[in-house]
Amino acid sequence: MKDCKIAFIGGGNMARSLIGGLIADGFTAQHLHVSDPNPSNLQSLSDSYPIQTFSDNVSAITNCNVVILAIKPQQLQTVVKQLAPHWQNNTLLISIAAGIRLEDISRWLEKDNAAIVRAMPNTPSLVQAGATALYANEYVETAQHELAESVLRSVGLALWVDDETKIDAVTALSGSGPAYFFLVMEAMENAAIELGLEPEIARLLCMQTAFGSAKMALESDEIAATLRQQVTSPGGTTERGLHELEDGDLRGLFENALVAAALRSRELAIQLGEDDA
Ligand SMILES: NC(=O)c1ccc[n+]([C@@H]2O[C@H](COP(=O)([O-])OP(=O)(O)OC[C@H]3O[C@@H](n4cnc5c(N)ncnc54)[C@H](OP(=O)(O)O)[C@@H]3O)[C@@H](O)[C@H]2O)c1
Repeated sequence: MKDCKIAFIGGGNMARSLIGGLIADGFTAQHLHVSDPNPSNLQSLSDSYPIQTFSDNVSAITNCNVVILAIKPQQLQTVVKQLAPHWQNNTLLISIAAGIRLEDISRWLEKDNAAIVRAMPNTPSLVQAGATALYANEYVETAQHELAESVLRSVGLALWVDDETKIDAVTALSGSGPAYFFLVMEAMENAAIELGLEPEIARLLCMQTAFGSAKMALESDEIAATLRQQVTSPGGTTERGLHELEDGDLRGLFENALVAAALRSRELAIQLGEDDA
């Protein structure tokens, strides 16, 4: 992996976090190319890392084994069509753009057998604590699978799914998940302020509790339901609080939220996959 060359198309937030993660993992910075139309994005990246920067996408992908599309979903079609005439057959394409399906990328690339991986990372990737699901088409070779996985693992957890339609469920769970947890934190903080805590104390206790619970769950072999039971003493405070949440159908609310988000993911994929006039 250390010998391969990787081009990032788009030098924004996600590219920056992946570049930082790869270099921290020992990847040779000189083997990383980045293109972006915004000179200040490129300058800020090259001020941080000794990578190679390009103002045009085609020059950036020359002689690269992997091309990572780190642009907004709405820009993807134009960029893929621009790269198509210059595409080398053995290059691996990794798209991290939310919602764009592999069949649409292949069609815009005008290659039936291009090796393409679709990755669905989430926002905590920006602090190297991401959760990414990956899906590869049939043309991705074993070494390319490993390469794609190590790129995304440089910013957190990376897991493969065996069917592209599962990306909609992933989007609903880990893609949108950070916002659900932020809402829960916001609601808990506000309730604690109502009970008399200073806002900063409520904020810090809430954040550390969320972090500590996630760390415990990650480090434990027990499922979440068991961990919950272990901290719920009969007749205690937690039991009383949980009773209110169950009574308000928190489980039903989350079920509805994930179903709605997955449906929206499917709708967006159809919309974003339409060919521009
Ligand atoms: N951020 C996340 O947490 C997250 C999570 C999951 C998935 N994603 C996906 O990751 C992708 C990138 O997200 P991001 O947050 O990194 O976005 P971003 O910060 O806006 O980065 C995109 C970069 O691409 C540049 N760009 C625009 N047009 C271009 C072109 N034609 N060729 C090359 N570069 C171009 C943009 O320049 P300008 O600034 O000048 O427009 C910008 O620097 C998106 O598709 C998003 O769906 C992001």
